[in-house]
Amino acid sequence: MKIAIGCDHGGIALKNVILSLLSELGHEISDQGTDSEISVDYPRYAKSVCDLVAANACDCGILICGTGIGMSMAANRNNKIRAALCGDLYTARLSREHNNANVLCLGARVTGPGLAEEIVRVWLSTEFAGDRHLRRIEMF
Ligand code: RB5
Repeated sequence: MKIAIGCDHGGIALKNVILSLLSELGHEISDQGTDSEISVDYPRYAKSVCDLVAANACDCGILICGTGIGMSMAANRNNKIRAALCGDLYTARLSREHNNANVLCLGARVTGPGLAEEIVRVWLSTEFAGDRHLRRIEMF
């Protein structure tokens, strides 16, 4: 899969962990920054990643900030994006099966790296269930 990824200064350490995982899993990565711990504005990175996903230039996106909240709010302003903030494996799975989430948001100050890696593994390997769930996501 081709995956766009972005973070702010609060998410840089976790992004580096996730970048290693994505490489290990053989995915193609489009890293939209940021690349340091210098304070930046997360909406800019959310927009870069979501524009790529909305244009089908990438299959899905991953956004990381301190809590994941700002990134998920900013990402969901794009009407082609269904961004899910996940902090556990159950919501990671259901955000794909039921909501066909195309952007995963993580909170680096909330979710440890080991759990975040498992969330990414589950999220990337779970298929959308379609059927009644398709009708529902087409309503928004
Ligand atoms: C940055 O300090 C912090 O506000 C940001 O990473 C994120 O948590 C916003 O939702």
